[in-house]
Amino acid sequence: MFAVAIDGPAGAGKSSLAKAAAQELGFVYVDTGALYRTVALYLLEQGEDPGDPQAAQAALPHIQVGLEHSPEGQKMYLCGREVTGLIRTPEVSMAASKVSAIPAVRAFLLELQRDLARKNNVLMDGRDIGTVVLPGAQLKIFLTASAEERAGRRVAQLEESGHPADYDSILRDIQQRDYQDSHRETAPLKPAEDSVLLDTTGEDFAQSLGRLVSLVRERL
Ligand code: DC
Repeated sequence: MFAVAIDGPAGAGKSSLAKAAAQELGFVYVDTGALYRTVALYLLEQGEDPGDPQAAQAALPHIQVGLEHSPEGQKMYLCGREVTGLIRTPEVSMAASKVSAIPAVRAFLLELQRDLARKNNVLMDGRDIGTVVLPGAQLKIFLTASAEERAGRRVAQLEESGHPADYDSILRDIQQRDYQDSHRETAPLKPAEDSVLLDTTGEDFAQSLGRLVSLVRERL
């Protein structure tokens, strides 16, 4: 099996690029952020504080995270119920960032991620894929763009899907999540030593996709 680990901050375009590259290469695209989001949704629905390690640990035995790969992308299930759309709210984003700092939650999701890479050629995106989940990945990419560029792209994306968006609050959210994700003790966001840096600031989607696909093809 061949694994491509793609890590980087929120809004760098990891998921849309990895999804498109996977399609071009015939790989399975795995969005690991969706796993943390699903755990976060469970805690929010139970009225628990997603940043409380005790509450999370007590909840884990009751949480069943399922994922399915379909032509439209990765579908997520929480205890058998489809939650693919529900996990995309700003509230769940912030809660996911908090639950992802809890070591027990990371341990809970680790084997699920490794198992997917054992069974499929994957492009897996997240924060610690190259450093922790798949340290033996054949290619590791650290995908990034400036916070301002990422906020601008998110605003455009939201507006395209009919949701009015406020640039300043989105930029603040991105900066806060960057800080939380890179300063936590367990598996902080940082480039793996042997990763290739792909900075997409100022590039359009097609340029970044072209660079990503070429990097994979060079290693295949
Ligand atoms: O990529 P995303 O925005 O859907 O991720 C949601 C949160 O989960 C984000 O704050 C960081 C965290 N995350 C993580 O800690 N490790 C991963 N492999 C993927 C996501």
